[in-house]
Amino acid sequence: MVTKIEIRPLRSEDERGDFSCGEPALDRFFQHYAGQNQFKLRLAVTYVAVVEGRIVGFATVAAASLERDAMPSAVLRRRLPAYPLPVLRLARLGVDWAAQGVGVGRCLLRHVFGLALAQRDTVGCVGVVVDAKTDAVAFYEKLGFLALDGLREGGLHGGALPLFLDIRQIAAAVELG
Ligand SMILES: CC(C)(COP(=O)(O)OP(=O)(O)OC[C@H]1O[C@@H](n2cnc3c(N)ncnc32)[C@H](O)[C@@H]1OP(=O)(O)O)[C@@H](O)C(=O)NCCC(=O)NCCS
Repeated sequence: MVTKIEIRPLRSEDERGDFSCGEPALDRFFQHYAGQNQFKLRLAVTYVAVVEGRIVGFATVAAASLERDAMPSAVLRRRLPAYPLPVLRLARLGVDWAAQGVGVGRCLLRHVFGLALAQRDTVGCVGVVVDAKTDAVAFYEKLGFLALDGLREGGLHGGALPLFLDIRQIAAAVELG
């Protein structure tokens, strides 16, 4: 575990050229598109994890909505109304290969959970969704994410598996620290 990780919004002047998480498409997104999506198009916001002045990871989030029928459990489908449900989408997540395995990804996820709770309290949010890459599915499942119903076969975004975590579980996880 690294001792001091700062999580803050991306700044336009942040140096991103040598970031490498092992997924070229994610590196390309972070280096070339995260900035314009945030500062010009206003589509999404990227948060960076900084250790000793160096960016070691990033998480990009955006507002989104889900249909009730996609919810991963019958309990949730019964509980929620049949119109588009507000969620926070974790659109991208990457940790530099040199910093993987020491808690940076989990730290970024905790920050995203905090954002989801703030969204819940200000405009409404029933959970967090992510299109998980095959190699990262277990990382999310460890945190309690479940496959969205009817979408198990993936194929929506290059074979990624859409996962969901209920806002009540997020609140409980954050309270437990
Ligand atoms: C997946 C990724 C974000 C994880 O970040 P990380 O900083 O290495 O993960 P952490 O060190 O915070 O690990 C937290 C826990 O998840 C586990 N974990 C990490 N990566 C995992 C994986 N790919 N599969 C299963 N478990 C994983 C760790 O062992 C740790 O478990 P523990 O607390 O029981 O010890 C990072 O490896 C990465 O950027 N990979 C390449 C890009 C990618 O796949 N991004 C996700 C796109 S959806």
